[in-house]
Amino acid sequence: MTTLAVYHLKGGVGKTTTAVNLACLTAREGQRALLWDLDPQGAAGFYLGRTAGVGKNKALVSGKIKIAAIAQESPFPGLDVIPSRFSYRKLDLHLADQRRARSAIKRILAPLSKTYRWVFLDCPPGVSLLAENVFRAADVILVPLIPTPLSIRSFEEISVFFGRQGLDRSRLVPFFSMVEKRKRIHRDTMEAFSAREASACVSIIPAMSDIERMGVTRRPVAYFRPQSPAGKSYLALWSELKSKLGEHG
Ligand SMILES: Nc1ncnc2c1ncn2[C@@H]1O[C@H](COP(=O)(O)OP(=O)(O)OP(=O)(O)O)[C@@H](O)[C@H]1O
Ligand SMILES: [Mg+2]
Repeated sequence: MTTLAVYHLKGGVGKTTTAVNLACLTAREGQRALLWDLDPQGAAGFYLGRTAGVGKNKALVSGKIKIAAIAQESPFPGLDVIPSRFSYRKLDLHLADQRRARSAIKRILAPLSKTYRWVFLDCPPGVSLLAENVFRAADVILVPLIPTPLSIRSFEEISVFFGRQGLDRSRLVPFFSMVEKRKRIHRDTMEAFSAREASACVSIIPAMSDIERMGVTRRPVAYFRPQSPAGKSYLALWSELKSKLGEHG
């Protein structure tokens, strides 16, 4: 089981869209995957047609409810989803009640290791106790960056935070999201960042109306239109991630 979180402390940068498309790609490849929507906004569950999350925070966090019991089948064969609940806005409070509060999510996920090849965590923005849990639970923390100086600055803050907490920075994998190449600021920011940040993905996700329209169609482009430019951009990102992880195929 490999756990990939899609995280940024900034909102609206493409986290959910990326998590959903990559999770659907693993389903296309015939591998069992789980997407856990940790954001009380519930957008990932919405894209996957599953919005009714179950399980009280306290019971979930304490291990009283087994996580496998709250996973639901998505419309995509092989892909299960744990839809979010609005009560997840208080998840931090319940995590804080646990002993070793920063590794609670890691403990919750551990029993799934034989069931799923991939686990995706769609995270809310911000640096909270939940985010600290995600940093410990995930093998890879994918960070979508809109190529502007402020987004890069926020990434650097995450990286400094990792250093301070003694977390392995190499698990942070930034990639450019919602790229508009006709904008000079995007081109310049990408060039400068890629020159100094070796971990940055070469693959980028352009800003495309096909991707934006997923909010209307609820049809992840990577699954339904893998040969479209949008579908190909997710496939390229996924292939690059797998090769970073030492995976082939
Ligand atoms: N590559 C893209 N091209 C065009 N629009 C995009 C792209 N990626 C995401 N969007 C759109 O941008 C908006 C924000 O995307 P998304 O919800 O994935 O971001 P997020 O980081 O998960 O946001 P939040 O922090 O609110 O959870 C959505 O309306 C989405 O459809
Ligand atoms: Mg989101």
